[in-house]
Amino acid sequence: MAGLKAGIIGAGGIIGYHINGYIKAGVDVVAISDPQIERAELQAKKFRIPKVFSSYEEMLKKITEIEVVSVCIPNKIHASVSINCLKSGKNVFCEKPPALNANETIKMVKAAKDSGRILMFDFNNRARPESQALMGYIKNGTIGKINSAQALWIRRCGIPGFGGWFTQKTFSGGGPVIDLLHMIDLSLYFMRFPEPKWVLAQTFNDFSTNPEFKGPWGILDGEGGKMDVETSAHAFIKFQDDQVLFARNSWAEMNKREEVSVTFQGTKSGGMLKRLFQRDGIDETALDECELYTQENGHPVNRKIIVEPDEKMGRERAVINFVNTVCKKEEPFSLPEEAVILMKIIDAIYLSAEKGVPVEIA
Ligand SMILES: NC(=O)c1ccc[n+]([C@@H]2O[C@H](COP(=O)([O-])OP(=O)(O)OC[C@H]3O[C@@H](n4cnc5c(N)ncnc54)[C@H](O)[C@@H]3O)[C@@H](O)[C@H]2O)c1
Repeated sequence: MAGLKAGIIGAGGIIGYHINGYIKAGVDVVAISDPQIERAELQAKKFRIPKVFSSYEEMLKKITEIEVVSVCIPNKIHASVSINCLKSGKNVFCEKPPALNANETIKMVKAAKDSGRILMFDFNNRARPESQALMGYIKNGTIGKINSAQALWIRRCGIPGFGGWFTQKTFSGGGPVIDLLHMIDLSLYFMRFPEPKWVLAQTFNDFSTNPEFKGPWGILDGEGGKMDVETSAHAFIKFQDDQVLFARNSWAEMNKREEVSVTFQGTKSGGMLKRLFQRDGIDETALDECELYTQENGHPVNRKIIVEPDEKMGRERAVINFVNTVCKKEEPFSLPEEAVILMKIIDAIYLSAEKGVPVEIA
């Protein structure tokens, strides 16, 4: 979008998708901020971004023309930084998870409403061509009501380093449940965000000190290698109008290999999208599939849905959708209130696992 200027907060692993998304949307990325200034400098050089700052507050103060910001920082500060940006009049595209928990997410949504600015979260899997193709069938009535869905993001060897912020609950909010929440989110998106009622869940922490289960991505091991989050989780979620969702998330578990999928059963048709990895965490080794299961002319029919491949899993397309939403050129792929429902479920998964009982969601 000609004339729109963006600033990026956080120069870590995810930044490239945001910058490329903005470039493709025609937005000028004018500055990057990161307290580790050398990381900001590295990315600024790579993408020819004119300014770097060690503080995002200074960035926003010095470059007043910035209208959109990407929040690409550890989960612990998603809420506080996004709220400050919204209060400063910026439109915010915040990385997932929305925050550490539902309460923080509620505060972010309120700040967006109060400021009149756009707040969107990077649920990039909704932006995948497969997801949008299935959504087309959901919207045109082919699927009917989705009674049940199964959400999987299961890695076999995918612990993102030992002792960095990802593996410490105070900084991340948890392990694969919150980190790999995408398929739970995508199932809810397909089910049109029904009100959750009950959650029953169990988490495990096997392999949490075993370096053989470290993934090929993530961040450098931290001092002491602290790891106090789960390595896998299994959950069952029941909704107010009797829909159900089964979810499995893992960084380290004895699975055949990494699988990222949603399967659903509707009252008229079913569907599935799946990404299988040859190597855990390496998108370039992934194989995507998308299918529709219907009954036609008295016969069961399985249709293969062919879409333009998107190895980047919608990460750039999600940024473009954010820009188009700000510019009122496209409907948003996600609404802030949906993030509150998602985070209530995540909170309930952890609470149920901790207490050993089903948890009711108010
Ligand atoms: N959507 C996806 O597919 C996807 C993939 C990976 C990560 N993420 C999310 O992106 C976020 C960042 O992850 P990452 O892998 O880039 O992490 P990272 O650790 O590689 O980078 C985080 C960066 O934030 C910087 N930072 C910390 N405090 C800051 C502040 N106040 N202002 C500016 N910068 C600050 C750190 O110095 C670091 O450089 C996380 O929330 C993560 O969950 C999303």
